[in-house]
Amino acid sequence: MTSSTPAPVALITGASRGIGAATALAFARAGWRIAITARTRVEGQTHRHQLRRPDGRALAGSLESTAEAVRGAGAEVCATTMDLMDPASLDAALDAVLAHFGRVDLLVNNAVYQDRESNALLADLDDAALARTLQGNVVAPLRLVRRLLPVLVAQGGGLIVNVGSGAGQADPPMPADQGAWGYAYGASKAALARLAGCINVEYGARGVRACSVNPGVVGTEAVTATLGDGGALERRYGAMAPASIAAALLWLATHPEALAALARQPQLIDLQALVRREGLQADATA
Ligand SMILES: NC(=O)c1ccc[n+]([C@@H]2O[C@H](COP(=O)([O-])OP(=O)(O)OC[C@H]3O[C@@H](n4cnc5c(N)ncnc54)[C@H](OP(=O)(O)O)[C@@H]3O)[C@@H](O)[C@H]2O)c1
Repeated sequence: MTSSTPAPVALITGASRGIGAATALAFARAGWRIAITARTRVEGQTHRHQLRRPDGRALAGSLESTAEAVRGAGAEVCATTMDLMDPASLDAALDAVLAHFGRVDLLVNNAVYQDRESNALLADLDDAALARTLQGNVVAPLRLVRRLLPVLVAQGGGLIVNVGSGAGQADPPMPADQGAWGYAYGASKAALARLAGCINVEYGARGVRACSVNPGVVGTEAVTATLGDGGALERRYGAMAPASIAAALLWLATHPEALAALARQPQLIDLQALVRREGLQADATA
C-alpha cells in the first residue's frame, strides 16, 4: 500500500466484542480502514435476544470500546448500530458505511443471532424461535450481501467472508442441554455456509470472491455464557483466542496464496487449521 493508494475498507458485523472486535483490531493494525456494526453502542446496554452473564449482566464490549481500540491502532473507523432482526437497520448501516468510506473491500458476516432458544432441544424448539434464528443468521447476512454486491461489482471486486461454524457441518457430539449446539443454530450455520458458493458462481467473473469459515471453539465470553466455562466442547476440541482467528481472517484477505487456499477448501475453511498450518501469530497486544 502506498500513501497515494487509499487503504482498503473492511466492514465487520458483530464487532462489539469477541471475534468481530479482535478482527477489527487486526485489520486496523494492518493498515485497513474499519467499519464496525453491532447493537451495543456503549457498555452495558441491554437488548432483546441477548446473551447474559449468569448474574444477568450484559457481556462486556461495545462499538465505542472497539472503535477506541481501532483508533488507538491508528486506523479510521466508522461505527454504526445494526440489528440483524431489523432489515431497515441493516440497510441503514450499510448506507452509512458507504456514505462514510465510499467503498467496502471486505465484508465479514460475523454477527450472530444470540438467544438461548437457538440451542434449544428439539422438543422445546418452536417455529418462531427457528424463524428468528434463520432471520439473524441467514436472511440478514444475505440482505447485506445482496445490497453490497452491486457496489463490489462497480468498484471492480471485493471479498465476502461468512463466519460459519462446525455446528453447520457436523452432528452435535451430545444433546444441546449437555453442552453442544441445538438444531436451530446448526441449521442456520449450514444454510449460511451455502451462500459463498452461490456468490462465487454468480459474481466470480466480476471480481467478487466469497468463502465460509469455521472458527472452531474460540474463547469468547459468549462461549462461556452459552456453553459454560471449560464446557464440553472446549474440553473436547480445545479453544483458540479470538486474536488468532482474527490473524487467520487477515491472512485470508491479504496473503497472495489465499486464493489458492480458498480453491483447495471451498466448502468451509477451518481457521484453526489455517493458524497452525501457516504458523500465524496473534498480535500479543490484542
Ligand atoms: N466463539 C466460538 O467458539 C465460535 C465457534 C463457531 C462459530 N462462531 C461464530 O463466530 C461468530 C462470532 O462469535 P463470537 O464468539 O465472537 O460471539 P460474540 O463475542 O458474542 O459476538 C457476537 C457479536 O454479534 C453481535 N450481535 C448479536 N446479536 C446481534 C443482533 N441481533 N444484531 C446485530 N448484531 C448482533 C454482538 O453484538 P451486540 O450484542 O452488541 O449486538 C457481538 O458483537 C459468530 O458468527 C459465531 O456463530 C463462534
